[in-house]
Amino acid sequence: MRIFPVTAALLIATQVHAQQAADAVQPEPATQGAFEALSEEIAAAFKAKATRTPVQASDWMVAAANPLAVQAGADVLAAGGTAADALVAVQAMLGLVEPQSSGLGGGAFLVYYDAGSGELMTLDGRETAPLAATPRLFQDENGEPLGFFDAVVGGLSVGTPGTPALMQAAHERWGRMDWAGLLQPAANLAEQGFAVSPRLAGLVESDAERLARFPATAAYFLPGGTPLAVGQTLTNPAYAQTLGAMATGGAAAFYTGEIAADIVSTVRSAKGNPGVLSETDLSIYEVKERAPVCATYRAHDVCGMGPPSSGGLTVGQILGMLEGFDLSAGPGDAEVRRLIGDASRLAFADRGRYMADSDFVPVPAAGLIDPAYLADRAAALNGESALEDAAPGTPAFDHALLQADDVSIELPSTSHFVIVDAEGSVASMTTTIENGFGSRLMVRGFLLNNELTDFSFRSHSEGVPIANRVEPGKRPRSSMAPTIVMKDGAPVLAIGSPGGSRIIGYVAESIIAHLDWGMNVQEAVSVPHAVNRFGTYDLEEGSTATALEQDLTQMGYEVNIRALTSGLHAISLGETLQGGADPRREGIALGQ
Ligand code: GLY
Repeated sequence: MRIFPVTAALLIATQVHAQQAADAVQPEPATQGAFEALSEEIAAAFKAKATRTPVQASDWMVAAANPLAVQAGADVLAAGGTAADALVAVQAMLGLVEPQSSGLGGGAFLVYYDAGSGELMTLDGRETAPLAATPRLFQDENGEPLGFFDAVVGGLSVGTPGTPALMQAAHERWGRMDWAGLLQPAANLAEQGFAVSPRLAGLVESDAERLARFPATAAYFLPGGTPLAVGQTLTNPAYAQTLGAMATGGAAAFYTGEIAADIVSTVRSAKGNPGVLSETDLSIYEVKERAPVCATYRAHDVCGMGPPSSGGLTVGQILGMLEGFDLSAGPGDAEVRRLIGDASRLAFADRGRYMADSDFVPVPAAGLIDPAYLADRAAALNGESALEDAAPGTPAFDHALLQADDVSIELPSTSHFVIVDAEGSVASMTTTIENGFGSRLMVRGFLLNNELTDFSFRSHSEGVPIANRVEPGKRPRSSMAPTIVMKDGAPVLAIGSPGGSRIIGYVAESIIAHLDWGMNVQEAVSVPHAVNRFGTYDLEEGSTATALEQDLTQMGYEVNIRALTSGLHAISLGETLQGGADPRREGIALGQ
């Protein structure tokens, strides 16, 4: 396969004519033409996606949310790089071309299968609460929670970023190519300029009021007061300089010195909503290596990210409860949807009670995915109508615990990518700055996260502490669910999605689509969504899932038809590699 270098691709990209942004935000199939001119391979990948055909390859593959980021990863893999090398290049490029979703100012979780050792491992690059943060961070003087966007926009919500440290940690463990060289394509493109994508332009337009609040952010996204247009060439020399500093100084150049000082002063001087981040917080940041959380489903091990993410445990609980049920009737069957929906509600009840940063609160992780506990919980699914109530269970615990139910708010943004290298190592990484455009604070060419709003705004309920309350140095609970599915000790599927707490439903549904409904990865990530977290059944508007409305209503669910903009990317590993990219976003899969 001929690989089209990013630098050449960008010249064509900048010539692509502007398209209307009106349809750009979600779902997005109509907007992808802006990328198809980049290369024959990219055009073919879009065609495959549109026809529900997976991209096939024999050696390596990458699937991500933006074709320029995919191309950056493909160039590394074609040159013999590992999945860890490629993830550095992909993340550096996403931070430029999809800045609203992830970047150096955010955090990420990585599940990595190292083919050399046969080990599966996770890296926690989650943002961290400043040492000066207290459980009352998001409460007013009467102890009442702030409004969501009052907390998000500005410095208060900014946690210590983890993504630069995670990139370096992954590269140190599993990379072999020159670190600086992996950052160079994104730095070059930042200098030369890239064509603004339809999704970015659409989101800038819809968020213009918030982006206008801070001068550096406004200057970049609303130059001259006008939102960026589709196809407009955008340069980001400040980002190139930041990558340049990291190229020579490593992640330390981000966490100490001038960049760190600028981050801190931007956060602490944010007009109207200053935060408490300090240079000490940045200098002590650490990536944490954690064992994956694995649950058994259909003779596979579904392995994901444990606390502080709720992703691995909640996906594992949903699948574990469904293990004893026949789901083969498929996604259009209301009874199948009842089972999935109520398993999900039960899992979310446990999530709200028990899941948080396990370095701060005791999380009964093993008990929550114990097959006997899940079989017991699954007995509640044996009826014919919606559960009247989905309460938390009592998983086995190694000591007494009294915690109240969580009241966190999570809105979707984020990005997910998957990579398989020529040696069979696999990266599944979900990466975020939390809300679209994060805190809206921009410094040195990247946006700062608002990840601290993933904590519960309330610290207690009726005098009982909430597990996911803010505490100094703690990591906010996440829903990110980067997943690698294993069979007999070998990876067979890598998958994940953005989407706030709906990530969990999107990932569980796609795994069921692949394993129970026999769908290839492209079909699996394209399945019309039906997602239930807290009782209301969300059905994807404009899709065949809406045909479930009447049956689910009769079963007792409140049904809500709405846009469900996942961003699933998946690679299955069998005789060939097969890649799928979510039709709701701008991404593709490429391989060789
Ligand atoms: N901020 C999205 C998540 O961590 O789940």
